[in-house]
Amino acid sequence: MVTDILSEYVSKTQKSKIIFEEAIKYLPLGVSSNYRFFDPYPIYLVKGNGGRVWDVDGNEYIDFILGFGALEVGHANPKIINEVTKALQDSSILGFEYYKTVELAKIISKRYNVDMVRFSSTGTEATMHAIRIARAYTKRKKIIKFEGHYHGSHDQLLININPMVQKDRVPSSLGIPEETLSNTLVAEWNNLESVEKLVKSQSNDICCVIMEPVAMNMGLIPPEKDFLKGIFDLSKEYNFLVIFDEVKTGGKMYSGALGYYNVKPDIILMAKSIAGGFPLSVIAGKREIMELIGPNKVAHGGTFNANPISVIASYVTLTQILTENAFYYMETLSDRLERGYRDIADDLDVDLKVTRWGPSGMIYFSKEVPRNYKELLKTDIPRWFTYFYSMLNSGILPMAGFNEQWTVSVMHTKEEIQKHIEKAYDAVKKAKEERLNLKLFEAF
Ligand SMILES: Cc1ncc(COP(=O)(O)O)c(C=O)c1O
Repeated sequence: MVTDILSEYVSKTQKSKIIFEEAIKYLPLGVSSNYRFFDPYPIYLVKGNGGRVWDVDGNEYIDFILGFGALEVGHANPKIINEVTKALQDSSILGFEYYKTVELAKIISKRYNVDMVRFSSTGTEATMHAIRIARAYTKRKKIIKFEGHYHGSHDQLLININPMVQKDRVPSSLGIPEETLSNTLVAEWNNLESVEKLVKSQSNDICCVIMEPVAMNMGLIPPEKDFLKGIFDLSKEYNFLVIFDEVKTGGKMYSGALGYYNVKPDIILMAKSIAGGFPLSVIAGKREIMELIGPNKVAHGGTFNANPISVIASYVTLTQILTENAFYYMETLSDRLERGYRDIADDLDVDLKVTRWGPSGMIYFSKEVPRNYKELLKTDIPRWFTYFYSMLNSGILPMAGFNEQWTVSVMHTKEEIQKHIEKAYDAVKKAKEERLNLKLFEAF
């Protein structure tokens, strides 16, 4: 019985329940980021190690959420601990520029084939700054984004992120003036015509198209053949910039999505996994664009930008942990998961589809793989809920939501992957039998 799944969750997480009841008095929704909440209350975590985390009730989970994709180095990676501990002895913030920042900028410039780099602390800041830079460079106002793509928690891009109603324009938060969103146009992922239509109707005022080059906030939906090429062609014809928001993808292939698809966006943004679990984001791009940053030109500042701890963590991550060999290893593990899910679907004769890109992948209870956000909403989400809570109960955090994906780390083991597959077999079997009709809410 499905209700048993939820009662099992509640009986295993009594201490989380008590903390939640206290937390909602002080923290809206009992959490510090809306995405961390789920019904009936979320688990509260104590610690992590390698591929695992532990909650306040002492439950152990094999973790494939990994800080929403921020921790491919794994929890408490010894290399990060060693280097960061040493760096901390020399202060966590120096005010003026830390001398090693240039080394990190050079590494990023070479690895991701970008001319110049600026650092901020979060993905939200990176996308916010990128929009301003694009506007300054093109002297135009309008932005095109895609439905289902998430670019952080600032006003300009908070539209049609995960609307639960089928409407063309749905603000993803209260409190955003209509005038602000009037400059943000929404296109459909994998539908070049929808981009073309917007570009043609506002051809003199489009400053940029911003995208997650592999969409990872609506499951995991790669661009279809020629879709990216179509956008680059349009950008040349209509003189707008192409911005790759690689906050998730940047650390998921050795040289990110731009390397994988062998394209050269005007600006790329990265965060999450590239700094081994510390807050650091990258705004990078072509020299003539990046050189617009400066006094009397484009503003970019931040007290914690490129603080020594984040710089060292990122340096160690990129030079010693997320190496080409590491990507090979994560690919092997993730491929094993993908094949495991395909076998489960065949064995149990369930309509279940899988998409994967390097260390990340996603499953959908559906006859077809979704091509865009609207198609994702048509998948059988109540069955996904049954699967999700069954996985939690059996000690696996498979992914953070029906619009998220799994990520493997360099510290996961083959045995942990095997355990994931075994538990997934039972969870998918339950999902085949029953649907858990929880209320869907927009994360914002
Ligand atoms: C693609 C993408 N861009 C931007 C962001 C915002 O990053 P942050 O949460 O570090 O502000 C996220 C966060 O999930 C993201 O997935």
